[in-house]
Amino acid sequence: MCGIIGITSAKRENVVDLLIEGLRRLEYRGYDSVGIAVVDKESLIVRKAAGTIDKFTSKIDFSKIRGSAGIGHTRWATHGPPTDYNAHPHQDCNGEIAVVHNGVIRNFAALRERLLGTHKLTSDTDTELIAHLIEEGVKEGLDFLQALAKALTRVEGTYALAILNRNEPDRVYFAKMRSPLILGFGDGENAIASDITALLMITRRVLPLEDGEFGYISPSEARVFKLQGEQVVEVAVKEITNRTKLVEWTPESASKSGYPHFMIKEIHEQPQALFDTYNGSVEDPAVLEAARLLASAGKIIIVAAGTSYHAGLVFHYFLSRLAGLASHPLIASEFKVLEPTVDDNTVVVAISQSGETFDTLEAVKHYKAKGAKILGVTNVIGSALSREADMSLFTRAGPEIGVAATKTYLTQILLLELLAVKAGLVNGVLDNVEERHLVNVIGEAAVVAKDAIEVGDSEARELARRLTQKSMYILGRGLGAFLAKEAALKVKEIAYVHAEAYPAGESKHGPIALVEENFPVFVIGTSDSPEVPGNAIEMKARGAWVRVVKPANLELDIPSDIVVQNSPPTSHILLEPFSIIPFFQLLAYHMAVAKGYDPDKPRNLAKTVTVE
Ligand code: G6P
Repeated sequence: MCGIIGITSAKRENVVDLLIEGLRRLEYRGYDSVGIAVVDKESLIVRKAAGTIDKFTSKIDFSKIRGSAGIGHTRWATHGPPTDYNAHPHQDCNGEIAVVHNGVIRNFAALRERLLGTHKLTSDTDTELIAHLIEEGVKEGLDFLQALAKALTRVEGTYALAILNRNEPDRVYFAKMRSPLILGFGDGENAIASDITALLMITRRVLPLEDGEFGYISPSEARVFKLQGEQVVEVAVKEITNRTKLVEWTPESASKSGYPHFMIKEIHEQPQALFDTYNGSVEDPAVLEAARLLASAGKIIIVAAGTSYHAGLVFHYFLSRLAGLASHPLIASEFKVLEPTVDDNTVVVAISQSGETFDTLEAVKHYKAKGAKILGVTNVIGSALSREADMSLFTRAGPEIGVAATKTYLTQILLLELLAVKAGLVNGVLDNVEERHLVNVIGEAAVVAKDAIEVGDSEARELARRLTQKSMYILGRGLGAFLAKEAALKVKEIAYVHAEAYPAGESKHGPIALVEENFPVFVIGTSDSPEVPGNAIEMKARGAWVRVVKPANLELDIPSDIVVQNSPPTSHILLEPFSIIPFFQLLAYHMAVAKGYDPDKPRNLAKTVTVE
């Protein structure tokens, strides 16, 4: 889950600032430590430290370090605690090679055991072993590329690597196996990074590398190789050109643009992101094609992790209600539960904003091997999911950097609602007029979300100051139960408050036992669930602090001693997620800020989880 970057330039004398800027954009992937290495007049300089980039840049005087080729790393610790000495880059015995790594080397213990006797190991990491393996190859007389290839045959596991060799000062070597790595083609400079956002300062022309590929970049060329048996073969330039994509994202879209945090910026970007996703999907023939695929499936499985899973639950709901199609939503890491029932009549809808989540990709690979068709839903063109899937649909949220997913969640819901409506048409549950009407309804999502952000902000700010308890419930029924899950996740991950989502009706079967005077309970009101006031009353009767959050025009029979918080009115249940969710995103954000936490870097979390 770490982030890596490598840059080599002929037009800049120094790439240190660019490396640091790139690492800032990758910091969402982990912030346990930071480090860079550059080659300056054939000496290899490494600087690294535990802690965040801000800490790193305040500690180290970068004016003394320069070089036109360099690599950088931001860490989410796996092997070894987050200390200075475990920070990347890691080096070989002679300080000639520097390696940064995202991934996990599985045969770490055996390799370490073997290398311990003959090499000077200075960290607890798996990464350092790669530097020493390459060193061995070079000592045997292999050229650096061959030595890298040989090292790769010895490691098992996952990796995206960027490597400097002191003796080839303008090259950055790289390799990829099941961790994301993107190559960016600039003008007089080239770069590699864990994701596109870190390349935008240099280029928008990118090549997502495939598993098993390795090679090097220099300012004037990028060469990609793979192994055929023991043989190193070059990937043809024509293939590279065909796979290269021009991304629409701009450098500004990956900066805070005056907002104090990415999370609040991204919350405010939701109306635009919804507008772009709607416009990009509403007439997209791929959505109709995907709807046909679903309607013809013997079984539909939805797999995803985290917030994407919560979008999957909303999809499961509308697929049933609007298209009459039953589906099985499954947390990606639990995919084995349904694996025995999968065959070539199964369609798997895999949802992942990054398209790189390890568990989701694992599920996809296993289901695919059993003959299932894979429909990927992702925000990142060229991501592993989009390459693995038989067909892909794309949200158009732009880059999301805050660790807590916000705009990608609502855009996923919008796209999946469109898909459910089209599936309803294909399946004969909706006629043309109904389908058109619902498609137009979904077109209002951006405006509803905009109002919800405006209406919800002051309320969320005010409540964030008052809600100091350590726990809370967020209840809902029907659609509301699924929205509650996302609301609770936001509060939990950003504000570190134990927020538990529960189906409101089920809350009588256990959770209510915890309720005492002033225990906070939010109850989400959705138009499919006129019963929720009853559950709110039950909580209130036990002394709970209760607040019902519902669209303003939704009539619910709520007693006057229960506070009602109105979100923007909606003309259809399809719009209720956009009316209700922004308030909870804002609540989580303001609670975190009020407590002095950094909402962009919640502790122990990373945005893209590329480990098991
Ligand atoms: C991590 C992130 C979540 C995200 C989840 C799934 O847990 O912290 O915000 O929802 O991964 O990520 P994906 O990229 O697959 O949607």
